[in-house]
Amino acid sequence: SEAEMAYAESLFALTPDFPEPGVLFRDISPMLADPKALRTTAEALIHPFSGQFDIIAGIEARGFVLAGVMAGVCGSGVLPVRKAGKLPDPAGYVEYALEYGTAAIEAPGVLKPGQRVLLVDDVLATGGTLAASRTLVQQLGAEVAGAAVVLELEGLGGREVAGEVHALFNA
Ligand code: PRP
Ligand code: HPA
Repeated sequence: SEAEMAYAESLFALTPDFPEPGVLFRDISPMLADPKALRTTAEALIHPFSGQFDIIAGIEARGFVLAGVMAGVCGSGVLPVRKAGKLPDPAGYVEYALEYGTAAIEAPGVLKPGQRVLLVDDVLATGGTLAASRTLVQQLGAEVAGAAVVLELEGLGGREVAGEVHALFNA
């Protein structure tokens, strides 16, 4: 419901000047800690893609939590999209530009050809992470069924970079 969504949104933690001066950092941890808000959020992330995906790819680190809860709600499995250098035998590798620096992501080789993957992360900022995740899924021979985030930070051009994204909240 609208009230449940407003309640979830009220739980974002706002921290000025992190990770650098002038940035207002938004953290979803209090929302994850709240049973009702967590459930509401997971269901809302899934809703537009119901029946259209086979597995949920959670992007490190808060995307892991969201993907796990969503998978519990809808009965799917999870693909962890990892920051590079953590997996013994990664099946794909994509470099990308971050809002603050550069990074690379990897995933384990567990997708079946043509599997439909729903991507999820907490925040869409510049869009680099989601765009790289799309490329990674394609590299693995699977299909991107869609992308969902809790919070879209406007004014950073994320949507132009990341493609179509279902965002629950905007800031
Ligand atoms: C944050 C956020 C997204 C990404 C969005 O992750 O959780 O994954 O940045 O930024 P972008 O749209 O500009 O690519 P962060 O780098 O803080 O890593 P963490 O989740 O592992 O803490
Ligand atoms: N919160 C979480 N992740 C982020 C943010 C933020 O405000 N900005 C860029 N990545």
